[in-house]
Amino acid sequence: MFSVSNSFGLSVNTRQFIHWPDHADVFDPSQPFLIVGAGSNLLFIDPEYQGQIVTASDQTFSYSESDAHYIVTLGASLNWHHTVERLIKLGMFGLENLALIPGTVGAAPVQNIGAYGVEFSQFCSSVTGIDLITGQSQTLLRTDCHFDYRDSIFKHQLNDRFLITQVKLALPKHWQPNLSYGPLQKLSNPSAKNIFETVCQVRQTKLPDPKQLGNAGSFFKNPVIDSQLFAKLQLTDPDIPNYPQANGQVKIAAGYLIERAGLKGTSYKQAKVHQNQALVLVNQGGASGEQICYLAAKVRQKVFEAYQIRLSPEVRFIGKTSEIDSEALLE
Ligand code: EPU
Repeated sequence: MFSVSNSFGLSVNTRQFIHWPDHADVFDPSQPFLIVGAGSNLLFIDPEYQGQIVTASDQTFSYSESDAHYIVTLGASLNWHHTVERLIKLGMFGLENLALIPGTVGAAPVQNIGAYGVEFSQFCSSVTGIDLITGQSQTLLRTDCHFDYRDSIFKHQLNDRFLITQVKLALPKHWQPNLSYGPLQKLSNPSAKNIFETVCQVRQTKLPDPKQLGNAGSFFKNPVIDSQLFAKLQLTDPDIPNYPQANGQVKIAAGYLIERAGLKGTSYKQAKVHQNQALVLVNQGGASGEQICYLAAKVRQKVFEAYQIRLSPEVRFIGKTSEIDSEALLE
């Protein structure tokens, strides 16, 4: 038995752990398998995963230059935050707003990680991996990855089959800081290092460190709603934080809705709505996947009662042998 690492700090075991490509010969595509990075965006509902856990071992870190860009090739198993820090030290900028996001480089494209006004997709040039069902290697250019808000082809057509082994980034040599997000707006003429440090500080005050308090970051996505519904909500709630989208819809802050529904700091057994950021559910120690799931269902139900908005989980739910439809489970 191997214990499966997951930032929620849940106790989960599996019988087979496959490091790719080292153990590729023992992998059996006809049996259930689950592709994981560092397990920082997963909620295991069951204490045992009865299948093969597959993880990429690639640790490549190499770069070259074109006229306008640094072209960086990164192995999927590298730690994301350390890689961001390493690139900044080498004078390659752009990822500083994405400091301290837990997890691996290979997981970054899957949910198109984003924070403080920047998304992974902005710097992605291509993603390389292997289709574990057909055994074929494939490189997808950025436009083939169908990136969207916390979404990509790796959660749809290529879900549960494509093991990302490397990503290629294009970081502009002519760097421009992204200071669009609140606390960064105060910085005047910052370096990439200043932004990196500020983002680390902001995250450390708001978001719990998974090493100290189990969590998987935002548990739900920020909902994107029609402008009519938004106008209606604003009548009773004029302060609702909102981000108008190019298509006329409006993204609103789920953490705010959860807080206004009176749920910040509430708990169910060892699962709790974090008291500094209501969008994060935490394991206070010894929680089960089911307890976290129960609390999540409560949060979703209360927000629906208050706002007629159904929150969609951002975290992915894993059952005994496969991923589970999280929205169906929370109904
Ligand atoms: N808010 C509240 N109460 C709360 C939480 C938030 O009123 O309990 C309000 C805040 O005051 C703010 C707004 O809601 O006005 C947005 O909050 P915040 O800036 O903390 O960000 P978020 O929208 O809750 C998103 C991402 C985070 C990312 C931050 C910063 C999603 C699902 N989450 O959170 O990403 O770090 O923006 O860019 O989009 C993650 O994906 O795991 C994650 C942590």
